[in-house]
Amino acid sequence: MRMRTLRSILALALLAAVALLPGAGLAFQGDPEAPPPNFKVAFIGDSGIGGDAEAVLQLIEDEGAGMVIHAGDFGYGDEGDPDTAVAWDAQISRVLGEDFPYFAAIGNHDDDNWSTYQRILEERLGSVAGATCSGDYGVMAACSYQGLFFILSGVGTLPDEPDNGEHEDYIREQLAADGSLWSICSWHKNQEAMQVGGKSDAVGWGPYEACREGRAIIATGHEHSYSRTKTLSNVENQTGDPAWDDPTQLRVGGGSTFVFVSGLGGKSIRDQERCQPSEPPYGCGGAWASIYTGDQSATHGALFIEFYVDGDPAKARGYFKDIDGNTVDTFTVTSDATGDAPPPADGGDASPDGSIGGAPSSDVSSSDDTFVRVAVALAAAAAVVAALAGGVLYVKVRARR
Ligand SMILES: [Fe+2]
Repeated sequence: MRMRTLRSILALALLAAVALLPGAGLAFQGDPEAPPPNFKVAFIGDSGIGGDAEAVLQLIEDEGAGMVIHAGDFGYGDEGDPDTAVAWDAQISRVLGEDFPYFAAIGNHDDDNWSTYQRILEERLGSVAGATCSGDYGVMAACSYQGLFFILSGVGTLPDEPDNGEHEDYIREQLAADGSLWSICSWHKNQEAMQVGGKSDAVGWGPYEACREGRAIIATGHEHSYSRTKTLSNVENQTGDPAWDDPTQLRVGGGSTFVFVSGLGGKSIRDQERCQPSEPPYGCGGAWASIYTGDQSATHGALFIEFYVDGDPAKARGYFKDIDGNTVDTFTVTSDATGDAPPPADGGDASPDGSIGGAPSSDVSSSDDTFVRVAVALAAAAAVVAALAGGVLYVKVRARR
């Protein structure tokens, strides 16, 4: 009876030790949420109502995207007339369908009609199975669909001011609380240095840095062109990540991310006004990987990012395609949930967690979680050894009796 009890204890201890080892299957938290294989998202902004906007929607349909994130400026036209919002939504429904997963953040041209736009977008949200959003839709909202976590923010637009602390805090808190493999921050406006046209500082650097530290892709619009950065370890200073210097291979995590403006949704096409020359590697310290404006004879189009490619849930492939069929930018992205942060840039202000403060980034949490799991596994193994030693001693004592 005592030997059977001893064997049971030993078996349980062994089971606990094996189960708690990193990668053994049992964990303190489940695998992070991830999209299904080859899930494609279209990113656009600044669409309007008309032939070019419809052509972009048709491109999205033709490319097989399963979802749209629209970074503001929807219908233009008579911006205070609710019929404008209704017509814009009808345009989406004509091409993509009434139930298509189409998510959006407010732009400055949507402000006068926002109550109608928000109602329409919330109704569409309600018709998309599995899509959830909390907060104030399109202004201060956190959403989840198909394993993607995304923030729809009105920072810089509502209220119309940069460096809004409430927006920044919300973004930081929502990203810190979520454990998805892929996260996206989307808002409409820019900082001057995060676009290549004539836009001025309207967002503040806090939200950009919060999303970088929170391991989120940063998707914007407002300037009517396309531009994408290389991997940045500090967005405010446009510091490149030295370990990910290839402009076609990006990482999100380890204190780095990338930023893009996808503002060729159909309204108009603007020129490159900064960061000349108009060909790679461009100007502005080499921060830009791809620029597509009037200077590059751009036409309307969308950025597509396909998540979970090549059988790897942490790998994505992006490309910008226009309505004439030209693919003008291609790249891969790695979700580097546990990657090391790059060393601080000259000046020492590129620390991924030290420059802004606030909640710890999710990659730090992941490292802590791995540490705890290893520690518990070692403790369980020690318990097994102790139990074995006790068993041997018990058997020896019994044998002597
Ligand atoms: Fe705008």
